[in-house]
Amino acid sequence: MTWHLYLIECSDGSLYTGITTDVERRFHEHHDGKGARYTRSHKPVRLVASCLVGSRAEALRAELALKRLPKSRKIAAAHSFALRAPTMPIPVELPHAYRLLNHGPVTLVTSAHESKQNVMAAAWVMPLDFDPPKVAVVIDANTYTRQLIEASAEFALNIPCKAIAAQVLKAGSASGKDVDKFAHTGLGNFPAQVIEAPLVEGCVAWLECRVLLRPDNQLRHDLFLAEVVAAQADERVFKDGRWQFADDDLRTLHYYGGGSFALTGETIELSGNTD
Ligand SMILES: Cc1cc2nc3c(=O)[nH]c(=O)nc-3n(C[C@H](O)[C@H](O)[C@H](O)COP(=O)(O)O)c2cc1C
Repeated sequence: MTWHLYLIECSDGSLYTGITTDVERRFHEHHDGKGARYTRSHKPVRLVASCLVGSRAEALRAELALKRLPKSRKIAAAHSFALRAPTMPIPVELPHAYRLLNHGPVTLVTSAHESKQNVMAAAWVMPLDFDPPKVAVVIDANTYTRQLIEASAEFALNIPCKAIAAQVLKAGSASGKDVDKFAHTGLGNFPAQVIEAPLVEGCVAWLECRVLLRPDNQLRHDLFLAEVVAAQADERVFKDGRWQFADDDLRTLHYYGGGSFALTGETIELSGNTD
């Protein structure tokens, strides 16, 4: 069972410190005069902080330490206990294990062969090498994209952003076997620099790729290795060779699965690595 440390502000401005396994229930008990002697004579007004601390022993230690602090330092200290608290790992079902790694930027894979072209969402994409730059992408055998890539040995990775998130989900939820995906999603496109597959409008970066034929990887694992032969990015968010996001609408997307996405978050700058 996991224990929480909590702080309640009382009507005279004092702070009451306690521990519990259920913060909401405990607050109501204090409020109804059934909690502690202190909160019967000092009416609870609101919960000001609560944090998961861990075992009962750890919670008792944290409570004692907090009670010894002056009021001015109690709230910040309560939060620092939460940060130091050992978290209780929960098991992840193996079929969901990939989701722990899934939130690299989602891409839109564009492909073309003869007069046909298509776009699909792909989250299973990673860089593989610096020079020449290479990427790895998993393209399911049942997709229309797979047919076009196998026929043309080319594709583009387009990096979409928040502004076109709904279209990304649409591109990942219908097949070009059944619909014209550009018309279906409303995504526009423009010619690539080197390859035949088009690039998607409204994205913030584009990588044009030529497949490095590895039939065994493709057949066994749906894995496509490719060399990047051209790359472009939107200068509003990619400057001096790296991402620099400011506008929320231009932040890249990260897929949690089940229609749930996150946006690229805050940047922190640390010195010591120039890669
Ligand atoms: C956000 C998102 C990410 C996806 N990632 C992948 C992926 O990495 N590889 C894959 O084969 N399918 C992936 N899919 C599923 C394909 O996009 C989906 O099967 C699509 O309908 C295939 O389109 P197509 O048949 O027109 O090529 C993803 C779907 C979504 C919504």
